[in-house]
Amino acid sequence: MNTHLIHQYLRYYVRARTPYQVHSPFVFDLVNEVLEDDRYFYVFEDIERLRVNLLRDKRLLEVTDLGAGSHTTSSKQRSVRSIARSAVTPSRYTQFLFSLVHYLKPKTVLEMGTSLGISTLYQAKADGRAQVITLEGCPEIAAVAQENFKRLKANNIELITGDFENTLPQALHKIQRVDYVFFDGNHRKIPTLNYFHEALKYAHEDSVFVFDDIYWSKEMMEAWEAIKAHPKVTLTIDIFYMGIVFFRKENITKEHFTLIDTWKKPWSMGFFSS
Ligand SMILES: C[S@@+](CC[C@H](N)C(=O)[O-])C[C@H]1O[C@@H](n2cnc3c(N)ncnc32)[C@H](O)[C@@H]1O
Repeated sequence: MNTHLIHQYLRYYVRARTPYQVHSPFVFDLVNEVLEDDRYFYVFEDIERLRVNLLRDKRLLEVTDLGAGSHTTSSKQRSVRSIARSAVTPSRYTQFLFSLVHYLKPKTVLEMGTSLGISTLYQAKADGRAQVITLEGCPEIAAVAQENFKRLKANNIELITGDFENTLPQALHKIQRVDYVFFDGNHRKIPTLNYFHEALKYAHEDSVFVFDDIYWSKEMMEAWEAIKAHPKVTLTIDIFYMGIVFFRKENITKEHFTLIDTWKKPWSMGFFSS
């Protein structure tokens, strides 16, 4: 049990509003279509079957940890199943990402932190027309992700292996117009802010940035506050396990929403144990 997260969740819970208390039509629609979306798509079954296989996979990988690592282990050799258990986003949240991409229909999807490819698959399968680029620093983990993309015939994914420091500029240069970014690797304040500023150079009014684990540590909470305060950011939605950032010019005054969905319970999804 991660006591920091439990404490932060309680503070968030007190502040949070339900979608029904939102007056902004844009946020209201987004929340109803995405946050409250409880549809189950066939592809979820394929990806969750893959997740179950990964949770049983005893293969040992040599892990190159270029980021903030894991709260649970810092060992160099890790089994696929241990990575699947602790580093991969739980299903309810990956299904949230699916709904978000399905609703927003970005032409380009950039993901920082592939791990075993579960979140990548959800986002790629949400819209087969999207060009998906995912970045992973550990070659052995990336190789397993590639196997998974092949297995699920996800042909719209390109995986670039290497340190974000080099691969992020490379990917941004390739994409040019960044519609959607999922930041899910190296959960430290300065690197997160650097990645945000780098991606911002290629963002436009309708771009959407999603930050995972905004309450994971004090550093991540500070990074989230700095992102919210950035002059280009006009609207943010804090759903505890992720923060969503918009740059819409229609929002003349900044708005920050802290929202709770009406039925998802993080404690029942392993969120506090990561
Ligand atoms: C939390 S995991 C990603 C989980 C994945 N998005 C999912 O939900 O299935 C973060 C990943 O980012 C990678 N990573 C962390 N820091 C990195 C860096 N500086 N450069 C490249 N990859 C990095 C780690 O190797 C790890 O696999």
